[in-house]
Amino acid sequence: MTQHRTKRRNRELAMHRIIYVSRSLIVGNPREIDAIVATSIAWNNTAGVTGMLWFDGASFAQVIEGHPDRVGLTMDRIRSDPRHTDIEVLLDRSVLSRQFGSWSMRCAGGDEASAYGTSFMIGFAMGERTPSSKRLYEIVLSSDAGKAE
Ligand SMILES: Cc1cc2nc3c(=O)[nH]c(=O)nc-3n(C[C@H](O)[C@H](O)[C@H](O)COP(=O)(O)O)c2cc1C
Repeated sequence: MTQHRTKRRNRELAMHRIIYVSRSLIVGNPREIDAIVATSIAWNNTAGVTGMLWFDGASFAQVIEGHPDRVGLTMDRIRSDPRHTDIEVLLDRSVLSRQFGSWSMRCAGGDEASAYGTSFMIGFAMGERTPSSKRLYEIVLSSDAGKAE
């Protein structure tokens, strides 16, 4: 009985995080980003997925967190989106807890609320030392969030 309860609690606590970078195919319409965020909020809210998005005008970096199945489904949607390409996944693993707050999706800006997530991403990128993490570092730094720090 105790064992059953522990297992169940573990399942409820299961949390998954994906971090990826991609190249934008959006040409010249910054409002497209607002549309992406709006769609993301609607789906992620229902799916219990949270995260942040960085956009430097040419590339995206994004983190999504939540129940493993829901994160997988969300990533399938993101992968099939024609507005970006060259998706490189840098992290795809179970984690103990969410690190990016409770926003269904948030486009990182130069505000205080984005600073924690941005610092986390920079720290993560610096620790990895791969070509993809260099790409991540540059996207985050040259997005608005990076400029404000
Ligand atoms: C960079 C980027 C990030 C995205 N992030 C999310 C996301 O976190 N959640 C989501 O549901 N859709 C996200 N999308 C949108 C999906 O790729 C896709 O357009 C959307 O889920 C399709 O929704 P619909 O079938 O209801 O139109 C993202 C798209 C891009 C280009």
